Amino acid sequence: MARKDLYEKPFDEGTITKLEIFENYAKEWIPTFVMGGHKELWIFDFFAGIGYGINGVSGSPIRILQQILNQAGNIFQKKTKINVCFNEFDKDKFDLLQTSCNQFVTNNPELSRMNLNMLFRNCDFADLFPKTLSTIKKYPSLVYLDQNGMKFLADKYIDDLEKTSTTDFLYYLSSSYFVRFGRTKAFQTNMNIDIERARRNPYKYIHKSILEQLREKLPQKTKLSLYPFTIKKNANVYGIIFGATHPRAVDKFLKTAWDKNTINGEANFDIDDDKKKSESTLFPELKLLTKIEVFQQTLKEKILNGSIKNNKEAFDYTLQQGHISEHATEAVKELKNDGKLLYDARTPLINYDNVYKNNKIIKYKVITP
Ligand SMILES: C[S@@+](CC[C@H](N)C(=O)[O-])C[C@H]1O[C@@H](n2cnc3c(N)ncnc32)[C@H](O)[C@@H]1O
Repeated sequence: MARKDLYEKPFDEGTITKLEIFENYAKEWIPTFVMGGHKELWIFDFFAGIGYGINGVSGSPIRILQQILNQAGNIFQKKTKINVCFNEFDKDKFDLLQTSCNQFVTNNPELSRMNLNMLFRNCDFADLFPKTLSTIKKYPSLVYLDQNGMKFLADKYIDDLEKTSTTDFLYYLSSSYFVRFGRTKAFQTNMNIDIERARRNPYKYIHKSILEQLREKLPQKTKLSLYPFTIKKNANVYGIIFGATHPRAVDKFLKTAWDKNTINGEANFDIDDDKKKSESTLFPELKLLTKIEVFQQTLKEKILNGSIKNNKEAFDYTLQQGHISEHATEAVKELKNDGKLLYDARTPLINYDNVYKNNKIIKYKVITP
């Protein structure tokens, strides 16, 4: 397919949303590992582009460098070695990429004073990825796969990423591309996704449908969690797929996503028409529940029927459902205020620090189911 080059026009709103999510995740990821005392970190931007958009808006490589710069104090203090691998296949773009990044470092001398190892590669991702896999597996790694189309979401790459335990990855894909090419043999050989099934839902859900099928294909005992963020640009649907094995990473991604969209945390638009659902109606009994309300209602039911018994189970369920601590906390507090539940703490303690870092687990005691 002839593709419009991303750099011929200013980055559009959807591209900016993607870049902001990429950057906001790096903003969370870098300090977590630096402050966690890891001596060496790796960030891979496998489809790095040229550094800036036509009007000077930063692309992914510059945003990554900016977030490293923002953590300079911690990086110096902890003596962390930060490795960044920028890859770009197109030679002209590759030259511009190097110039942009080197210039950014020159303009920000703290970056040259820290232990920053900036690697530039001018490779086809298909060749480079297998060569980097042992490093990705060995060190905490943040991997960006900002491809055109969706070719590199092929099963073989997902299979490799699934086997890593210290890797967080963010894929970008054109889900509309899948609708156009999903039936071709070349496509189906690399990616076994049932296109008819994915198209059964309204088109706006295409990205989510692809993700659901990817989830189903993971090994039964996988630790990898996948989450979608749909990005609509005019008639086309794109999206991010986030993947990680650690609940801390999932928690941070979901916060990033819900920060971007406080209504649904999974799209750059009101994908489920939640705004309409939250409007008051003459017949409250006919009111449809929003995504947050459905989650809160289900969580309450699970606590009251005893299938969720403590804050850890509540937190795990919250992440699994793609929600954030605040949504769960509000629901559980309501149960307490309504006299249906007791717990021995001021708040329900549904967050990462209590559950996984401090191992502070409290039981929920149901008073009236
Ligand atoms: C969506 S753009 C990346 C945008 C970039 N992350 C940014 O923020 O500006 C995809 C880039 O991948 C490059 N590319 C395409 N095929 C590639 C391949 N097989 N391996 C590596 N890079 C490739 C393209 O030249 C293009 O610059």
